[in-house]
Amino acid sequence: MTDLDPVGSDDEDRDDDRADDEETPPNMARVFDFALGGSENLEVDREFSAEVDAMMPGMSALCRAHRRFSAAVVDHWAADGVDQFLELGSGLPTVDHVHSRARWVHPGARVAYVDWDARTVAHARRLLSGVDGVSVLHADVGDAAAVLTAPEVRDLLDLARPVGVLAVGVLHYLLDDAAAADAVRVYAEALAPGSGLAISHLTSVGRPDIHTWATMNHGGWSYAPRLRGPDEMSPWLEGFTVVGPGWVSAPHWRPDAPAPGADVTGSGLWGVVARRG
Ligand SMILES: C[S@@+](CC[C@H](N)C(=O)[O-])C[C@H]1O[C@@H](n2cnc3c(N)ncnc32)[C@H](O)[C@@H]1O
Repeated sequence: MTDLDPVGSDDEDRDDDRADDEETPPNMARVFDFALGGSENLEVDREFSAEVDAMMPGMSALCRAHRRFSAAVVDHWAADGVDQFLELGSGLPTVDHVHSRARWVHPGARVAYVDWDARTVAHARRLLSGVDGVSVLHADVGDAAAVLTAPEVRDLLDLARPVGVLAVGVLHYLLDDAAAADAVRVYAEALAPGSGLAISHLTSVGRPDIHTWATMNHGGWSYAPRLRGPDEMSPWLEGFTVVGPGWVSAPHWRPDAPAPGADVTGSGLWGVVARRG
């Protein structure tokens, strides 16, 4: 398991996640929030976002593409009766995030969010304080056993019933292929029939600049992703039945969308949704 920075006391967290000074580095979850039109971001995040977009046009659009995918998937699962969700690598629960989206259909929907970034977790807990049926776990999603047995997950979700598991924009940060496969297998084995797994994952197929992003020196930004394709990830779906069009450009995933050619994404993201049989 990765050593995680501790999440501090409530008071420290409040100061920490609102601090807007030169010492505060940009934070991925807040950069995402900015790209999504949210208000939970700082000047450093907005500047960083502009720098990245200037270097690689369309990076902000990628954040929105992830969100279009997760919204379509949550809508699909909720319509199918799923009212419990586990979001791996959740970032900040701000703009149209899982619990708000699911609660349009199931007002009592339960959602466990997991992120490994201490500042993001503290910020998310502050945003969700007073919201029932939602938890935020500070953990590495690569340590699936720890996630599944943590009280934030175990006491909130009933794993004997269907759960929708979202791995949206996170598995490409599990750099070791075998460890990533193993983690997905442990989540899969814990899920009841009728559960769902949704993955969106960075790719350079149709977007060669993503390869540049993945291989460049990221300096202070510690998130250099591992790009993978369906050939590498399809074995992760053993025990599941793929739902809808299969591997597609993630923001274009819809349960009734036609299956495109195998080499098409262009959005920089593969997306797939599968159901535990
Ligand atoms: C690209 S953002 C996606 C956020 C969210 N899933 C969404 O769609 O808006 C990725 C998030 O995953 C978190 N993350 C990256 N690697 C992680 C890991 N190994 N365990 C837990 N969280 C991780 C980051 O801190 C970040 O908040």
